[in-house]
Amino acid sequence: MKVFVTGAAGFIGSHLVEHLLSSGHQVTGLDDLSTGQLTNLRSVADHPDFRLVQGSILDAGLVSELTAGCQQVYHLAAAVGSFVIRDRTLESLRTNIHGTENVVEAATSAGAVLLSASTSEIYGKNGKLGLTEDDDRIIGSPLKSRWSYAEAKAIDESLIDAYARERGLKAVIIRFFNTVGPRQTGRYGMVIPRFTRQALAGEPLTVYGTGEQVRCFCHVLDVIPALTKLIATPAAYGKAVNLGNNEPISINDLAKLIIVATHSSSAISYTPYLDAYGPGYEDMQRRMPDCTLAKTLCGFVPQRTLDDIIEAVIEGEQNERGAAAP
Ligand SMILES: NC(=O)c1ccc[n+]([C@@H]2O[C@H](COP(=O)([O-])OP(=O)(O)OC[C@H]3O[C@@H](n4cnc5c(N)ncnc54)[C@H](O)[C@@H]3O)[C@@H](O)[C@H]2O)c1
Repeated sequence: MKVFVTGAAGFIGSHLVEHLLSSGHQVTGLDDLSTGQLTNLRSVADHPDFRLVQGSILDAGLVSELTAGCQQVYHLAAAVGSFVIRDRTLESLRTNIHGTENVVEAATSAGAVLLSASTSEIYGKNGKLGLTEDDDRIIGSPLKSRWSYAEAKAIDESLIDAYARERGLKAVIIRFFNTVGPRQTGRYGMVIPRFTRQALAGEPLTVYGTGEQVRCFCHVLDVIPALTKLIATPAAYGKAVNLGNNEPISINDLAKLIIVATHSSSAISYTPYLDAYGPGYEDMQRRMPDCTLAKTLCGFVPQRTLDDIIEAVIEGEQNERGAAAP
């Protein structure tokens, strides 16, 4: 099959490209390398069935040209990471709204099936244990830049829903909960790669807030096969589907686990949200998915534990350090 992947050089995108190529598909990737990196695609750079185009999803002509003739489109490109959203809010809104509209329009015109990345941020401050896809969104003021990411992704979901109902688009929306693993960068606010890097460097692990906030982390390699199954499952079209793990851990306990796993002597330090993110930042105490729908649609059950994830991230980080060493 001919497949188009936006955000191909990103963390999830690069793992997906590898999986698609190993399944025999022809893959065209598009990425502007804003948070993605060419090194993420090292293993497939010379693959005869892979082509990466450097460019933006904001370029409607390019998106339409690359989508033509494809049967499937995976739309993963987005402005991602709390620091990116805070520091480049306008650009992020444009990418996440207009860029997505370009991809949705192109997929519709090409008659391709679309899988589009959304986020657990959609649920905002709803702290229900086991969030299901129909649960209400509890979102702070749109004037707090943190929520602009959730607002943009929610507009994307509504746009896809409207294209599906009015223009016949076949699409599945994926609400990723914290997805982690090798190649995720800690530079833009992701906690596991940041803690791992700090622990390996012997620096204090900086916990934002009290550290009592609870999250669930899912290995990227548990998520990838679910993406390729869901895009091929007609019962999933027209739906938003949660993908994540439901093993909760506090950020304090996560920091301790990473210190032990890296045999580090690092301490844990605390940074108030105000210092980490500036004024007006809001966070949610906990976030945990219910993934019954994904299990029903494609048999999704995460296999890898948090220990597996941390081990894989440490190994990935050590490999990167080895590759970067003179
Ligand atoms: N990793 C997670 O925990 C998580 C959670 C929720 C949602 N998501 C969603 O999953 C998708 C992939 O995220 P990721 O974690 O791999 O992050 P990532 O930053 O590694 O990937 C995003 C990719 O999009 C590219 N990109 C950004 N703007 C672009 C543009 N205008 N044109 C072309 N490419 C552009 C970046 O360079 C990057 O390679 C995103 O849509 C994100 O919103 C991820």
